[in-house]
Amino acid sequence: MKLNTFIFVANWKMQLSFNETEELAREYFEHLTLIKKIPNLRIILCPSFPALFPLSRLFKNSEIKLGAQDCSQFRAGAYTGQVCAKSIAELGCHYCIIGHSERRHYNHETNTEIADKVQRLLEQELQPIICVGETKQEYKEQKAFTALEQQLEPVLTRIADIGISHEPIHIAYEPIWSIGTGIVPSNTYLNEIFTWIEDHTQKILGKERVVGLLYGGSVSEQTIAALKKVKKISGLLIGEASLDFQKFNNIVNLI
Ligand code: PGA
Repeated sequence: MKLNTFIFVANWKMQLSFNETEELAREYFEHLTLIKKIPNLRIILCPSFPALFPLSRLFKNSEIKLGAQDCSQFRAGAYTGQVCAKSIAELGCHYCIIGHSERRHYNHETNTEIADKVQRLLEQELQPIICVGETKQEYKEQKAFTALEQQLEPVLTRIADIGISHEPIHIAYEPIWSIGTGIVPSNTYLNEIFTWIEDHTQKILGKERVVGLLYGGSVSEQTIAALKKVKKISGLLIGEASLDFQKFNNIVNLI
């Protein structure tokens, strides 16, 4: 089932220090009233872990929600440096990005680990934002659907198997060749991809499960007009352009 809220997810990655993150968050807070007020629109800020606590205080009574950028695949235990889904929930987050291509690349995350992480999040009633996407090479060789199937299948099967939660899940299609490059796929290509993701997801999870379909990769004031025409998209995952409140706000206003 389609998500009835359009979501804008600001992925701040590790672009800012703790103090810089707080500064940018205050700017968002001060300008909250400027953000287009339409029903069924939600802004989700995803700072790095240390900033989640101060930001959860700042936005406590506001419409802005918070998400983490990752979580541990384990519930608890001797896992130095990791952060469990329970802590993320206790901090007041509602969302968590999982399987971002940068984590798959730099931290060698596997699809099984990503499925474990999704399970941990659902146990805590957190909404996972599961990132998938093909490389440039796969795109050139027209192997996008194979790549997507390999990434999605283990995660969707796990969600279907555990059947513990009815939280909405989100699938963020982020072609790796688009992230940070200024290039976005054509609408024809995006329509094909999202139709495939929707069909595939419904086949495994059934039609009743609420699934958000997000696009990420070079979302900007320049690319938003074209992206807006892809009707299956119910949200955007925004990196670079979310680090500047004005740019972010312009994107929101153009939707
Ligand atoms: P970008 O990043 O908007 O800077 O391309 C998106 C992402 O990596 O989530």
